[in-house]
Amino acid sequence: MATSFPDGFLWGVSTSAYQIEGAVKEDGRGLSIWDTFTRLPGNVDGDDTGDIACDHYHRWPDDVALMRELGIGAYRLSTAWPRILPEGRGRANPKGLEFYDRLIDGIMEAGIEPWICLYHWDLPQDLEYRGGWQSRDVASWFSDYAVVTVRRLGDRVKHWATFNEPNAAAVLGYGEGLHAPGVRGRESALRAIHVMNLAHGLGVEAMRSERADLLIGNIYNFHPREPASEREQDEIAATMLDALWNRSFPDPQIQGSYPEPLAAEMVDLVKPGDLEIIEQKLDYFALNHYTRTRVRYDPDHPFEAGTLSSEPGKPVTEMGWEIAPEAFRQVLIEAKQRYAGELPIYVLENGAAFPDHIDPDGRIRDEQRTAYLRGYLGAVQDAIEAGVPVRGYFVWSLLDNFEWAFGYSKRFGLVHVDFATLARRTKDSFYFYSELVRGAALERE
Ligand code: FCB
Repeated sequence: MATSFPDGFLWGVSTSAYQIEGAVKEDGRGLSIWDTFTRLPGNVDGDDTGDIACDHYHRWPDDVALMRELGIGAYRLSTAWPRILPEGRGRANPKGLEFYDRLIDGIMEAGIEPWICLYHWDLPQDLEYRGGWQSRDVASWFSDYAVVTVRRLGDRVKHWATFNEPNAAAVLGYGEGLHAPGVRGRESALRAIHVMNLAHGLGVEAMRSERADLLIGNIYNFHPREPASEREQDEIAATMLDALWNRSFPDPQIQGSYPEPLAAEMVDLVKPGDLEIIEQKLDYFALNHYTRTRVRYDPDHPFEAGTLSSEPGKPVTEMGWEIAPEAFRQVLIEAKQRYAGELPIYVLENGAAFPDHIDPDGRIRDEQRTAYLRGYLGAVQDAIEAGVPVRGYFVWSLLDNFEWAFGYSKRFGLVHVDFATLARRTKDSFYFYSELVRGAALERE
């Protein structure tokens, strides 16, 4: 069976600044929490850092040429806050702004629409010294940064997102301590959630008063969290993780309140008027999705909830993430029912890591990645069929890149990067995706 996507469906790829740019000390860029975190031995596999990454800062014309070859309609990137405001607030860095200026022009000259995300986890280190996402001041500084960036690029860039997966930034960065800045604790995670929500609200308000013609959203991450057993403790843990991971951002931002069971714990953090600031009208609804997980009670975690690796026998990616496209269809249906309503929905990340091999003839036959994408795109079609207005889909990622705590050990790209020479090499999945982008129907099993 082969089925087509609707006319006008938007095809894209996504990346983020710290994961691809490198050039961390160039042209006046300040340090981010990831520069600091990667310096501490043991935080990242192989003690890898983003110092060079894909060297996109210098090689972006090659990368834009690859995107043109791929044929995509849109490219989602993130701007690095410390490149634009090296100390996080106050003085802007003209060279940082010029870099994004040229990049945006280059993308548009290639006939591709740039989408910008303002925060993909690289908080300026100076702001971490001032309390980071646990300090309410950072919410106002975020909105100042949003204004500086919109002022410079908002004449050309129409689609903006405040945050990429704020849930991951708050829970992994300030709860589990697995991501920068490596803080572990329950209260710190709750504070970070609330301050990021405030930053979103203040940012949206400020961006709208700067320009009335922007389309603004936030990129949520949805991963179904099922209890690992029928034991009550596991069910409580799964409800907690669902609230923490799936609902702690869209609930207040779209429905004006924190979900139970978190709400009671957040009472002291929420000041009068905060929820009104956080709940802003959005222009589109964006989400990332990769997998689903099972949850069990585990007192060693700040929220007493741990995730289990997939059941034996279930197919997984190299991340150990279960391949379950049917869960994706359900996520999309629930996103519409619960939050998006009539808003257009965009999938701004989906993709898979697998060990890739360059064959003697130079080809990378990454059939598993293609199969993953085929399955998940089938789920998108099923959701559209069920009435969910999915208007676009972006693969994570264009390039193999710095995969956070996994360093360079996990490859998500449609394009292979040799991290010794920085040479790019298209994989078979690049051509699979390119055909779809150019209108081919999706072959389904
Ligand atoms: C998402 C992140 C992205 C990348 C993918 C694999 O959670 O937004 O930067 O790491 O996972």
